[in-house]
Amino acid sequence: MADIVVAVDGPAGSGKSSVSKAAALRLDFNFLDTGAAYRALAWYVIERGVEAGDPRAVVDILPDWDYHIGVDPDTYAVHVGETDVTEAIREPRISGVVSSVARVPKVRSHVNDMFRDIMRRAPKDGIIVEGRDITTVVAPDAPVRILLTAAEEVRMARRSAELTTENAGDVAAQLRKRDAADSRVVDFMTAADGVVTVDSTTLDFDQTVDAVLDVIARQTART
Ligand code: DC
Repeated sequence: MADIVVAVDGPAGSGKSSVSKAAALRLDFNFLDTGAAYRALAWYVIERGVEAGDPRAVVDILPDWDYHIGVDPDTYAVHVGETDVTEAIREPRISGVVSSVARVPKVRSHVNDMFRDIMRRAPKDGIIVEGRDITTVVAPDAPVRILLTAAEEVRMARRSAELTTENAGDVAAQLRKRDAADSRVVDFMTAADGVVTVDSTTLDFDQTVDAVLDVIARQTART
């Protein structure tokens, strides 16, 4: 088990993936993007021709889902079987169905076991794990727990700047819809007890990474 687990939760477009990855690189920690697992499962569901809205059909293919994610932030890649899906899982067709897959309780318990196993095997001294329920469900005992937030209009502006294939209106609508669907399953907008909020609304990327590193330094100094 990595000695230090840093749990980071937050809504879509809060920058938690890129910020967590950059912080992991600075600390020479491992990095786990849990949303990528739900996305890779959504990719596999489509690949197998399964209806994403049919929980039983999704659960049926779980045993065949051969998922692998790198935890080294330098060589981060996601595979399903032999296929490298690192890029494909970011496509809008995946973002459109991933919430349906992620709300199935048996899917969540399956991936949570997987995440805990990945955390146990992580070779570096620490691992930054980011998602929606890491501070509350996956690693509630982590020594460092952070909620990364930003005002909705800022999150939307950041997301639309990342994507060139969609217009800003579509991005905003999709983000709102996904946050609404996801927050019915886990609450990632309010900090649970002991979770430190980092609000990046008025911070640029480097300042946000520094703010996260600062929380990690303070929290680990106390333990
Ligand atoms: O962070 P992301 O946008 O890549 O996450 C993809 C989806 O997975 C998102 O719609 C919510 C879901 N998710 C979740 O339910 N729990 C997590 N720990 C991580 C992601």
